[in-house]
Amino acid sequence: MKFPHDFLFGAASASYQVEGAWNEDGKGKTNWDVFSKIPGKTHEGTNGDVAIDHYHRYKEDIKLMAEMGLESYRFSISWARILPAGDGEVNEKGLEFYNNVINECLKYGIVPFATLYHWDLPLVLEEDGGWTNKRTAEAFVKYAEICFRAFGDRVKHWITFNETVMFCGLGYLKGAHPPGIQNDEKKYFQATHYVFYAHAKAVEAYKELKSYGEIGITHVFLPAYSVDDKQENVVAARHANEYETFWYYDPILKGEYPSYVVEQLKQKGWTPSWTEEELGTLKRNAGKNDFIGLNYYQPIRVEKYHEAVSSMEHSRETSTLAPGNPSFDGFYRTVKMEDKTYTKWGWEISPQGFLDGLHMLKERYGDLKMYVTENGLGDEDPIIDGEVVDVPRIKYIEEHLKVIKRAIKEGIHLKGYYAWSVIDLLSWLNGYKKQYGFIYVDHQDHLNRKKKLSFHWYKHIIETRGEEL
Ligand code: BG6
Repeated sequence: MKFPHDFLFGAASASYQVEGAWNEDGKGKTNWDVFSKIPGKTHEGTNGDVAIDHYHRYKEDIKLMAEMGLESYRFSISWARILPAGDGEVNEKGLEFYNNVINECLKYGIVPFATLYHWDLPLVLEEDGGWTNKRTAEAFVKYAEICFRAFGDRVKHWITFNETVMFCGLGYLKGAHPPGIQNDEKKYFQATHYVFYAHAKAVEAYKELKSYGEIGITHVFLPAYSVDDKQENVVAARHANEYETFWYYDPILKGEYPSYVVEQLKQKGWTPSWTEEELGTLKRNAGKNDFIGLNYYQPIRVEKYHEAVSSMEHSRETSTLAPGNPSFDGFYRTVKMEDKTYTKWGWEISPQGFLDGLHMLKERYGDLKMYVTENGLGDEDPIIDGEVVDVPRIKYIEEHLKVIKRAIKEGIHLKGYYAWSVIDLLSWLNGYKKQYGFIYVDHQDHLNRKKKLSFHWYKHIIETRGEEL
């Protein structure tokens, strides 16, 4: 079987991770421009000031994408390039850059898939409370409208937010992302609420424009498995899905929050301050969201939390749980298991986890249009005789594409696959050491680009529409 003719084979990137040119052509400063320069925050102090200089080399990069046969390119727009102060005056140079990127894609028949927010927040807004301040949500909607009007004639696929659980969790619980706050659950839940509200308002604004196209949101998808068949652990996994998954999908798809979590927040005093107008906005727009983007890297393994138990530590920094600590409700925690396979960075490799997770979503939300907006392997790629021989990446993507094909056969409505990432780029906390791309970037030699083995492999997959998988 080939993949359906309208299934998009793509790959992705994000503005801060590729563009560089952090202070050029009128761009405003962002939270990351400042945070990455605080000593000890990133691997060896790496930052995105230059990144891989995609800002100046986008033509070369998109040409390579075309050569690979890429059908669609998912990129993000830097809010501070368009609106340097987050709100107010528009920077024409910023619009020009994304117009150029979009037009370059279209020149080769590559479908542009734009993310409006992939974590780089204009600094002015961050300093005013960031996502815990409703002002940010309101400014986001205006920014989104500017983008819809400027690019909507050519961009037909929009993602509002990338991975709310990550930027809110790492920002307000772990202190590992801006604004660098730790253990503030109240702020964490408040921030997520304003993101969902901003999403709903942006969807509404997009629909009002009546432009032909679709809009959705992307989450990091962390379906939870119980570590074993014990009843208490099975229940623990259910609790984990409530916090790590349903909290993020219910407000978008059902227009309301999962009642179990709401009840828990009330007891802990963590309920976001939400108004009737905000809750009504979620409700009103629930049916208008067109698709869900899933960034899938791994599932989570969960057990009931017992104070005295010491299992291997949980190591996925994306979870909202601190390593080894109890969950929000004190009921469960995530663990690493000895019989599972992990990447060099401790992320479990489990294509099956994705398939099971997709069925879980179908069970809860019914038929849902979805895109895999990220999936890939972070690795230190071997270079043999000058060639980047990234065989583990090929294997990883191959195995995931196989289960995606199976999922489609089983009636899951998946419309595209975007490998993370199209090219080696800046990993937020791991610098350039952790590679994901089909294209290698030589940091010792003028950021020269070089095709990896996976480049040729993915090209073949696209040409044959995955028939051999
Ligand atoms: C996703 C993000 O969470 O994971 C990407 O959307 C990120 O921006 C990717 O790069 C991989 O994460 P990391 O930490 O390995 O770079």
